[in-house]
Amino acid sequence: MRQPADSSRQIPPLLERVEELLRSLTVDERAGLTSGTDAWHAGGADSIGLGPMLTLDGPNGVRGPVFPPGSSATCTPCGTGLGATWDVDLVSEVAARIGLEAKRAGVHYMLGPVLNLVRSPLGGRDFEGYSEDPLLTAELAVAYVAGMQSQAVAACPKHLVANDSETHRRTVNCIVDERALREVYLLPFEAVARAGAWSMMAAYNRLNGVHGTENGPLIHDIVRDEWGWDGVMVSDWHATHDTLIAAGAGLDLEMPGPPLFFGPPLAAAVRRGEVDEEVLNSAARRILTLAARVGALRLEGAAPTAAASAEPSTAHATGAAAPQLLSDATAAALVRRAAAESFVLLTNDGALPLVPASLHRVAVLGPNAALPCTQGGGAANIDAPYAISPLEGLRAALPAGVEIVHEPGCKTDLFLPALSRMDAADLDGNPGLTLEIFRGREPAGTPVARLRMETSEVIVGDYVPPGVDATDYAYRLSAWLTPAVGGAHDIGLRGMGGRRLFVDGAPAADNWDAKAGVDMPAERFENEEQLATFQFEAGKRVLAVAEGHCNDSMARMLIVGCAAHETRDNMAAAVEAAASADVAIVVVGNDDVYEAEGHDRNTVTLPGRQDELIERVAAVNRKTVVVVNAGCPMDLPWADGVAAVVYAWLPGQEFGNALADVLLGVAEAGGRLPLTLARTSADYQAYDTTPDADERLIYSEGINVGYRGFDARGVEPRYAFGHGLGYTTFDYESLELAADGLAEGEALELRVKLRNTGTRPGKEVVQVYVADLEASVPRPPRELKGFAVVRLAPNESAELTLTLEDRDLGYWDTARHSWRIEPGRFEIQVGHSSRDIRLRAEFELA
Ligand code: BGC
Repeated sequence: MRQPADSSRQIPPLLERVEELLRSLTVDERAGLTSGTDAWHAGGADSIGLGPMLTLDGPNGVRGPVFPPGSSATCTPCGTGLGATWDVDLVSEVAARIGLEAKRAGVHYMLGPVLNLVRSPLGGRDFEGYSEDPLLTAELAVAYVAGMQSQAVAACPKHLVANDSETHRRTVNCIVDERALREVYLLPFEAVARAGAWSMMAAYNRLNGVHGTENGPLIHDIVRDEWGWDGVMVSDWHATHDTLIAAGAGLDLEMPGPPLFFGPPLAAAVRRGEVDEEVLNSAARRILTLAARVGALRLEGAAPTAAASAEPSTAHATGAAAPQLLSDATAAALVRRAAAESFVLLTNDGALPLVPASLHRVAVLGPNAALPCTQGGGAANIDAPYAISPLEGLRAALPAGVEIVHEPGCKTDLFLPALSRMDAADLDGNPGLTLEIFRGREPAGTPVARLRMETSEVIVGDYVPPGVDATDYAYRLSAWLTPAVGGAHDIGLRGMGGRRLFVDGAPAADNWDAKAGVDMPAERFENEEQLATFQFEAGKRVLAVAEGHCNDSMARMLIVGCAAHETRDNMAAAVEAAASADVAIVVVGNDDVYEAEGHDRNTVTLPGRQDELIERVAAVNRKTVVVVNAGCPMDLPWADGVAAVVYAWLPGQEFGNALADVLLGVAEAGGRLPLTLARTSADYQAYDTTPDADERLIYSEGINVGYRGFDARGVEPRYAFGHGLGYTTFDYESLELAADGLAEGEALELRVKLRNTGTRPGKEVVQVYVADLEASVPRPPRELKGFAVVRLAPNESAELTLTLEDRDLGYWDTARHSWRIEPGRFEIQVGHSSRDIRLRAEFELA
């Protein structure tokens, strides 16, 4: 593993100034820095000119809460998509772009990247992490952190640690053995800590019995002392449970506000002598250091950090959202390229790339063709300026003479689709919906706020104006709907807390006395959708009104959905369209309810009748190209019976354009699998994420996560970790080791020569695995220890140099509680994937 240069260490004058400022603050002021003031701001200190610091989610773009109109943020590919690029430079570029937009929006902390691993294919947030492999995750995370912090915005890698699934996420007790923890789950956190991430987030879950915010041995002894990390440890939202334990464990910042355990309660505990004042000082010192690093704290006389001097933002100085556009054409071009680089071509019988001149009729089928899932649900979900669907992308890219027919074939929705500005008008007649907020429990009288919404999925808490009691307000979401077709329609309401729905004044749903829980993402999935059926006339508008109220400090959510009953056989229509087309492109996948924070899935099967759709289409059209729009591993039982399969992840706002680029050969599918796709769900060693009766989730596979487990058990995956095709071929010509042995403390240089033997320029991801041939403890048959991206023209060759550090060869010795580099023979395996090793060489570690 390469240890990147540390860009974060302070320049002494900065530290001295921070010390001076710290000494000038009272206990209350110092404690005020350690807690949130509202959902997204951390406390500042007026006496030293430090305003509240803004924290926002990440990781695939800058999430609201409320940007000025027209300033939505760029939506990039999701974590697994970026993971599939295996490209540290590209990931850094994407993160720098998000950082730039974050800075423009006045953000100081961006809550990402996600370093949890794709342990089970059912993990609700799999799409946010990069991969199943610790090294790939670590290297991409370091690149992301560097890109983000180059913009003077703190990255906040999350969630420390073993938050690899969502079921009972606030109480689950993940039982992880010491070796797996060190070699697998902590490794990415270690890499970003050593690389100087300015903050990090402590997870909800318990690890071996201890909550993330209370784990002193982890935060103090490992992260700070052993790894030498000086950043700010932030709690996950509402993950702090106790003042003394969390402060003693080394947590610096309780989020969100208003404070429950830090802030004033921490000051009181210091005064009572229950918390050592030095503990508070250390937390405040780290927070002020971060404030200085992001340019929020004026430090006359101190040399700025490299990052802080990058482009000082006026928004930073004030903490206020700057009224300027966040996304733009440069960002669009970047995320279009990144999406194409993330697509993994799993199989191709030669159907791709398509030759536009030979096409007359193209069938673009499947539920995700027109309604794609460009991003997952929950904290990662951002207000993107647009989302180009595959259908739109192909329409724009194919020559005018090519006829395009579209049929969805079936549905994926678990719930009714939320309304958007495309199908609703607000109370003023503009596209969108109207949200009104009222004081008190009833939505009556004059509203204190009236806003236009883009969709009917609204987190109301984000829009409550200052001055309104956050524990006593009501709200109303109104939309004029103009049905495109007449007949029966279902209309439904979901949400959190007391809520009800009317259609043209008639009651449609009533849950007015419902109590809100504490986990909005979980309730988004778990809470029942109340449904009613109405007969609508085509073109005759109806008024849908949803209302709710809030009587505690938990933010509220409303989701109104509507869909016409199906009156025709959509599956048959799709098959008919496929039969007469030159090529059938079937876009299948998930939606942002399946792939979301707050819950796990219970199957790897594509939702609805999508498998059947593919099989029936493939039966009538030999040239069936399947595009899988999913951020997590899904089952592909039909893969051998179709012409080509592209795994497209949740690719962000440029999905359709990037897909057209790849299908038409303007770009190559640059991705390689960052995770294993099994032949059957039974082949995944870690599958069920439900804790046992004692709330334990036992990581019984130990270090054998992902491909390591498939290799160790001799199970053939459907598509192996690292696999992915391009439109050209590469020959691996030679592997040379600079020495045939090395001693502890030394590094080993490898030289790999390869040549593009095809007819098109292309990308190869050279993967280096290591097998310990004489280990005294069980080790995985192979572990990824390095990789490099190379792009070559036809017949061009290149020699790459990769370096293995001795630590890359070691394992965690549980008897000595340290890394152990054990002498013996090792094999280096270099290849195209974990199951396609092209070159091998042995060496001896003395
Ligand atoms: C998520 C975090 C997120 C935070 C703020 C939590 O529910 O686990 O990833 O950063 O909310 O939205």
